[in-house]
Amino acid sequence: MEIVIASGNLHKIREFREMLKPLKSIDLLSLLNFPHYQPPPEDGKTFQENAMRKAEHAAQALQRWVLADDSGLVVPSLNGDPGVNSRRYAGEEATDSENRLKLLEAMRALKDLHRTAYFECCLVLASAQGVKKSVKGICEGEILHEERGRNGFGYDSLFIKNEYDKSFAEITESIKNRISHRHKALVKLLPTLETLQD
Ligand code: IMP
Repeated sequence: MEIVIASGNLHKIREFREMLKPLKSIDLLSLLNFPHYQPPPEDGKTFQENAMRKAEHAAQALQRWVLADDSGLVVPSLNGDPGVNSRRYAGEEATDSENRLKLLEAMRALKDLHRTAYFECCLVLASAQGVKKSVKGICEGEILHEERGRNGFGYDSLFIKNEYDKSFAEITESIKNRISHRHKALVKLLPTLETLQD
């Protein structure tokens, strides 16, 4: 059966493709397959709210099964920033690199003790009939003083997971896909995905 990843982010789409490979009966599409579809504004106060909106809206509009991801980086010392604004932290059209620079600047004076952070990923699976399941995964770590590594996207080069000595941008995508917030959320969704029928 077909499931549409409600995202046009190539990195996220690739991670989902890789992680869902073992589910042979699922064909993944993404919003790149529906260029005329206009996603709703992401103005929820939580990742969960935004993921719900994305999933319900796309499932209705496309009349298909949809898997929506809303995710981001939370830094408690910055009162939760960048949080739900992770993608547009440095401005509506900001690049990942501009967002990382803004984060480094905001944390410049913070000592290691105050550099804890976590990635959060909320996933919502929905059909045109409504929401089927909502799950969340968290990955805890800290923010580096400078960028390290070239893999990944977003804040990967600034994030180091607890008990690791490499940033998310220094490890391979296949390792990231076994330890990330997105992986942790997806694992909770697998039993439901396995039961879906056309
Ligand atoms: P969304 O597409 O509105 O969910 O925004 C996600 C944003 O959060 C991305 O643009 C990144 O800035 C950040 N983000 C989410 N997941 C990751 C990840 O796995 N690595 C690095 N940054 C991430």
